[in-house]
Amino acid sequence: MANKTATYVVVALCLLVLVAKHAEARQPRLVPAIFVFGDSTVDVGNNNFLGTRKAGRANFPQYGVDFPTSKPTGRFSNGFNTADRLAQFLGFRLSPPAYLSLTRRTIRSQMFKGLNFASAGSGLGDSTGRLVVGEVIPMTQQVESFATVVKHMHQISGSKRTASLLSKSIFFISTGSNDMFEYSFSRSNDRKFLLGLVAAYKHYLKALYHLGARKFSIVSIPPLGCTPSQRLRRLTQMGTQGCFDPLNDLSLGSYPLLAAMLEELANELPGMAYSLGDAYTMVSFVYANPQTNDWSFTELEVACCGEGPFGASGCNQTVPLCGNRDNFLFWDANHPTQAVSTIAAQTLFVGNHTFVNPINVLQLTKM
Ligand SMILES: *[C@@H]1O[C@H](CO)[C@@H](O)[C@H](O)[C@H]1NC(C)=O
Ligand SMILES: *[C@@H]1O[C@H](CO)[C@@H](O)[C@H](O)[C@H]1NC(C)=O
Repeated sequence: MANKTATYVVVALCLLVLVAKHAEARQPRLVPAIFVFGDSTVDVGNNNFLGTRKAGRANFPQYGVDFPTSKPTGRFSNGFNTADRLAQFLGFRLSPPAYLSLTRRTIRSQMFKGLNFASAGSGLGDSTGRLVVGEVIPMTQQVESFATVVKHMHQISGSKRTASLLSKSIFFISTGSNDMFEYSFSRSNDRKFLLGLVAAYKHYLKALYHLGARKFSIVSIPPLGCTPSQRLRRLTQMGTQGCFDPLNDLSLGSYPLLAAMLEELANELPGMAYSLGDAYTMVSFVYANPQTNDWSFTELEVACCGEGPFGASGCNQTVPLCGNRDNFLFWDANHPTQAVSTIAAQTLFVGNHTFVNPINVLQLTKM
């Protein structure tokens, strides 16, 4: 009898543990919806629906080799990107789907949970990406598409409920790198360029605010000069090893301007709150600490998918792939691996003041 009771207790305990584990795996969503804007760092397939030349698409098998389906989805990563990872921390399965992948009918059900408008090659400037990539969706158009969606939400759900949902949602934005990259080939006036970039950013944030957005998670521009493509650029131009400093200087110069603009905007717009992730400091931290309890990077310079110096030839169907992808910082000549995106998203989500200011995304969800 006592034995039987003990067995029941053990079984009950096991069930409890199972239930707890299950609950942990499916944590509740912290926000009703996520809306994503920006470039290839957060694109989940919008460019596959454009007439873009090959350079602007990640639609062949190498891309996605570590994605759960092992299929290319348009992400510029071996697996998940930062939008996916952040969405997962917020309790979603992955990033909301690419806006262009949906039909009128599927948009209807999805728009209350979020959408991803990001487009690889795009930037804050209307012409950014056109010459290099071909067709891209510039920020103007990403915001216009969101405006169309909001109109649709108002019709279905009413103005009050739509406003309430949007005010609690996260607006995740990662952009500006392509503008900076293109500018670096024809440098004229750095100060003027950076001020123009931040003014454009402000314009789009205001537009999103007036459509109902309140909580912004913004990723600053990383040290672009340290990507494999830019290490090769330095080697070719100057014959020396290292990061391409002019780009890193531009990136460093953009951060204080971006931070000041956001602070000003939050003072100007009632109810606006934001979390600014310092991508430059995040990446620098990994360079300074390639091996910790949480990660182990053994290759900080060479791309996993690519050939030649720094593996910067470009990722395509025929080039060999590295095996230990979690040990590489760079997936291709210009993009981080899934391992890096995971660290970036985690830092955005719960990072301290060295990396995220004035608050992190978890704190943003509680405001
Ligand atoms: C892939 O890239 C390599 C290195 O640049 C090149 O030699 C090869 O022709 C490319 N293959 C395809 C299918 O584009
Ligand atoms: C934030 O965390 C990093 C990594 O653990 C640490 O080096 C840094 O000192 C921390 N910064 C603050 C302001 O606590």
